[in-house]
Amino acid sequence: MTKRVVLAYSGGLDTSVAVHWITHQWDAEVIALAVDVGQSTDDDWDTIRARAMAAGAIDALVVDARAEFATGYCLPALRANALYEGKYPLVSALSRPVIVKHLVATARSMKGDAVAHGCTGKGNDQVRFEVGTRALAPDLEVLAPVREWGFTREDSIDYAGEHGIPIKVRKDNPYSIDENLWGRAIECGAIEDPWAAPPEEPYTLTASATSAPRDPWELTIRFSEGIPVAVDDQELPLHELVGEVGRLVGSYGWGRIDMVENRRVGIKSREVYECPGALALIMAHADLESVTLERDLLREKARLEPRYAELVYDGLWFSPLRAALDAFVDATQAMVTGEVRLRLEPGRCYVVGRRAEKGLYDYELATYDAADQFRHQDAAGFVRLWGLGLETIARRQGPPA
Ligand code: ARG
Repeated sequence: MTKRVVLAYSGGLDTSVAVHWITHQWDAEVIALAVDVGQSTDDDWDTIRARAMAAGAIDALVVDARAEFATGYCLPALRANALYEGKYPLVSALSRPVIVKHLVATARSMKGDAVAHGCTGKGNDQVRFEVGTRALAPDLEVLAPVREWGFTREDSIDYAGEHGIPIKVRKDNPYSIDENLWGRAIECGAIEDPWAAPPEEPYTLTASATSAPRDPWELTIRFSEGIPVAVDDQELPLHELVGEVGRLVGSYGWGRIDMVENRRVGIKSREVYECPGALALIMAHADLESVTLERDLLREKARLEPRYAELVYDGLWFSPLRAALDAFVDATQAMVTGEVRLRLEPGRCYVVGRRAEKGLYDYELATYDAADQFRHQDAAGFVRLWGLGLETIARRQGPPA
């Protein structure tokens, strides 16, 4: 019996070929689903829909998931200061669960038997699509045509030509790029030599530091309970705010990442990213936490943050641990309200000021000037007891060698 498959469709070469290939290899009807998570596209969504139909889809849909992606996925990651292996703000890893949600919802509403994605067998994204789908809908089959067909890029271009699939490819573009409002991931080409400096050409969200404006610029980000709500007093919905911060910060040539990361499938991979908005917001958010969170809470949160990032990276978004960690993070954010000043200089973005009405920074405790309210005499007894154990060792057993 003819099966019905909902394919995560990007409009690119592989997923366009996949529409045709699934239809014929698996005797299936393909519904192409494009999810707008804030990626820039060469064409408008109508053109992308039309391309899917021309490739043989029985229907082609576009969902605007930008606001949902920003508040439901990027925001929890921001509040958790989530950076995989200390560096990568999880651009692709965060978008997969929201795409999965829409694939499953479409499969339900259109009576699909399976969902499909265009990931290769070497990456993390297949893991995220498949584990995510199984977590939400264990009855749905997941098809991964790109993993099965074994085409080179040239083969795919030839296949498209032979079957009249209207693709738009630059034969000389060696990069594999994934983009959304949280940033951009760049793989392949010259980047695969980890010794070679990343080429300048694939970057679109960040200027090079040498072409950035000479004069410094400052921007102020306002947070309310750990949520960034305004830039320079201009209130914006989160999916627009991230873009606005990213444009300013990126124009100063800051926000690039060059790393060798550990993929879930056991491969070390050299990747470059540009995430000016996400990185600047995480930096500002973490800084505001330094003045609003009590010491023990701050440290326990910091201990859990890498775990959160790892979980999301590994495709376990729809897991009870992620939900529990989100509940913890949520409980830490009630006081994370205030403002952070970021200064931009060519190739730099850094915090130069922060303030929070209910912050724990107390000038009269911290100051060395006449306003000092700290009870200096209390310190003597405190310090004596703090060192009492070590002092006892020295007296009874002798000081350490
Ligand atoms: N390595 C990153 C991750 O696993 C980015 C993957 C990007 N995908 C791509 N097709 N370029 O999250």
